[in-house]
Amino acid sequence: MKSIEWLGNSLRILDQSKLPVETVYRNALSYKDVAEAIEHMEVRGAPAIGAAAAYGFALGALEYHGDIEGLPSHMEVVQDRLAETRPTAVNLFWALRRMEDRLRECWDVEDLDEVQQILIEEAGRIAEDDRRMNHLIGEHGNEIVPEKANILTHCNAGALATVEYGTALGVIRAAHESGKSIHVYADETRPLLQGARLTALELLGDKIPVTLIADNMAGYLMQQGKVDLVIVGADRIAANGDTANKIGTYSVAVLAQAHGIPFYVAAPTSTIDLKVATGQEIPIEERPAKEIRECFGVQIAPAEVNVYNPAFDVTPAKYITGIITEKGIVTAPYSVNLLKLMVRP
Ligand code: MRU
Repeated sequence: MKSIEWLGNSLRILDQSKLPVETVYRNALSYKDVAEAIEHMEVRGAPAIGAAAAYGFALGALEYHGDIEGLPSHMEVVQDRLAETRPTAVNLFWALRRMEDRLRECWDVEDLDEVQQILIEEAGRIAEDDRRMNHLIGEHGNEIVPEKANILTHCNAGALATVEYGTALGVIRAAHESGKSIHVYADETRPLLQGARLTALELLGDKIPVTLIADNMAGYLMQQGKVDLVIVGADRIAANGDTANKIGTYSVAVLAQAHGIPFYVAAPTSTIDLKVATGQEIPIEERPAKEIRECFGVQIAPAEVNVYNPAFDVTPAKYITGIITEKGIVTAPYSVNLLKLMVRP
């Protein structure tokens, strides 16, 4: 199951909002289609959003038919539209900046077709890099997974959230593939149930033993000694190691520390944002009240009740045992070690 696939002049997007009940694809023919798919969470998960936006940028260039001189101002409109889709996952802005830089490098190319081709290739490289990074994250992460482990994860940081293989689920996959005896507890992850709908689906597909639990059960399981390790993904990691991830991650991290259970974050370096000093500076997306008052179209609360629906929370670095990246595992002090990691080739 591929989250996105470039088809030559369009982007095929697996509509994750309909999984696991229906497998439906949207063929995005324009940058506006891609922006909508990100907004509607048809494509979601930080690295997948970044790669989709890169292809959206390339599609924006393909849609342009004017003089080459007019391309930069058209591309500004394209970039702004894609950048306004979701605020928290930094991979979106990282990928758009990489595309913008590539476009700037084309200042002396006079042929529009050639520039368009260069941008398509750059988007392809972003997707390919993500694939490669996730397999490396899996390899490095496997080092901290015991031979036999019950691993708890939150939300979906799998193949669906990336271009391939996944980050947190990449580590779980690598451990399983290396013959370790792995069992996963998947938090269902209200309100949009990425754990129940997507993580459960992915793990079942790979025949990795999985048990689905409601979000409020994690503490009880830990108290009973049923969890050896927690691994989650990330949407943005600040310079001091504070990590934004799906709402509920922070509660799991505090619980893990209270029970002496290691808590790892798995993410590519494209998720690390050294421009934000601490987690307090990370913008947290707020989503519609409907997602709480209803559960997939079925009303579950009084229609007039007040609702607060932040989509992410920030786990302070002090709760994080280590951050697993494609370059290796970073531990505290994060302010020093993340900086060292980022300057390393
Ligand atoms: O709102 P979503 O589904 O895009 O949130 C996804 C998450 O929080 C993931 O854990 C995160 O993006 C890491 S994906 C490898």
